[in-house]
Amino acid sequence: MTNKEDIVQRGVRPAGDGKTTRAGGQPVPSENISVTAGPQGPNVLNDIHLIEKLAHFNRENVPERIPHAKGHGAFGELHITEDVSQYTKAKLFQPGTVTPMAGRFSTVAGEAGSPDTWRDVHGFALRFYTEEGNYDIVGNNTPVFFLRDGVKFPDFIHSQKRDPRSGLRSADMQWDFWTRTPETAHQVTYLMGDRGTPKTTRHQNGYGSHTFQWINEAGEAFWVKYHFLSQQGVENFTGAEAAEMAGKNADHHRQDLFDAIERGDFPKWDVYVQIMPIAEAENYRWNPFDLTKSWSKKDYPRIKVGFFELNRNPVNFHAQIEQIALDPSNLVPGVGFSPDRMLQARIFAYADQHRYRIGPNYQMLPVNQPVNPVNTYQERGAMAYQINAEGEPNYSPNRYTKGAGYLDNGEDSSSRKTYGPANDLYVNPDPHGTDLTRAAYVQHPEDDDFIQAGILYREVYDDAAKSRLVDNITDAMAGVSPQVEEQVYQYWTNVDEGLGQRVREEFAKKK
Ligand code: HEM
Repeated sequence: MTNKEDIVQRGVRPAGDGKTTRAGGQPVPSENISVTAGPQGPNVLNDIHLIEKLAHFNRENVPERIPHAKGHGAFGELHITEDVSQYTKAKLFQPGTVTPMAGRFSTVAGEAGSPDTWRDVHGFALRFYTEEGNYDIVGNNTPVFFLRDGVKFPDFIHSQKRDPRSGLRSADMQWDFWTRTPETAHQVTYLMGDRGTPKTTRHQNGYGSHTFQWINEAGEAFWVKYHFLSQQGVENFTGAEAAEMAGKNADHHRQDLFDAIERGDFPKWDVYVQIMPIAEAENYRWNPFDLTKSWSKKDYPRIKVGFFELNRNPVNFHAQIEQIALDPSNLVPGVGFSPDRMLQARIFAYADQHRYRIGPNYQMLPVNQPVNPVNTYQERGAMAYQINAEGEPNYSPNRYTKGAGYLDNGEDSSSRKTYGPANDLYVNPDPHGTDLTRAAYVQHPEDDDFIQAGILYREVYDDAAKSRLVDNITDAMAGVSPQVEEQVYQYWTNVDEGLGQRVREEFAKKK
């Protein structure tokens, strides 16, 4: 099912005849004059339209997302042009398949009304409405992240958002956290570089960032990373241009994407993957599950899969963008997780946020419904909107031979059947056993927190980009305490000795 209109038109009421009704359909006598006790008297509770209108107004917002509160999005289709069936059986990735999709693009730290062009990592979150349920890839415009363990995520976001006392963003908090968390170095080198200020959503690449798993028909598994490369090219603002745009138009990215789609200039991204055979993970020079590391393209070249196009704007921003509930635990057969601890934490975090932010039945909202039929015995709860057919049981096992998992072929919980590994989540190739433990990531020979940041600085950034990096870092240091200032110099010295020295010299001029 690829009917484009299905998703954005879901839930749309037919246009009215110009006369208001109450939400219950009753005709409204006047939108201009409320009911009072005599022409000069007070308003009365009997004015049911006034009361309903004010009460609903008070409830118009859902809480904003904690991270990634400011965002915008659009709808389109994923097209698979190549044959990657040797790596995955996932239906959406089979040659020729066209799958309806949504994308939401965001900043991380700013609030819902904050400027799109404040320096930040930018969210790049995609939902594919596949025949086997929703598949979400909730990534960023960088291939790595600040952290390698989800237990640090709330601290990280606190340090990037507002000081609890002053309510202000704080360079001191940010740098204090980063410099005491050396695993951030690779991502901060991206953030302070050109990619921290993309010119538009259309001119940035996206990445799934984590290592995921693909599984083929034969049950063979591969480690995979997603790359979404903009056909519009990559363009960034300088720090100064981004700051200027933040003042001129806080919604610049939202506006650019919306306007481009309205005028028929549909942005496209090519979809690539890097594939690592499972056996190579153990001895790869970097731990392939550590989200602060990328895989070298020389070791694992990008393989083309297809492209996606965004060609429809939302009909209603609140219903379709603010309430879209993207979630890395939305998986389909043929794709899986990995032992990446950040990914593992995210598997819990998103649905939990949606239940709190939108409500327990968030999956029943039009934008969150899959295109295939749902058969669930989860029921009731606030705002339950979809219901199972009359007479359907609501428990399993039952006498109607309904309500079984796809493995439960005549089995019940007393059959003591062992199904073996839960390969629907990921094919576990762990040669180190599965005892629960609190252990550091296994270090590979070249693992070091600063090494890839240093390579990015020395070998990828040209002289002009290096200068902009130094400029952006020192701009962002304004207001740091003397102690954190020294930590910052050490941090960049660890990335590259010359860079540390340049940051020191440049900041001395700006103090
Ligand atoms: C343990 C680590 C992480 C935790 C606990 C976490 C948690 C969250 C939460 C609770 C939200 C709000 C969800 C919502 O209400 O819609 C969110 C949004 C988001 N996160 Fe994370 N996150 C983590 C790491 C990451 C990483 C590594 C990436 C990218 C590689 C990422 C990308 C995003 C994006 C793009 C959104 C916005 C989704 C949208 O557009 O609706 N997050 N995160």
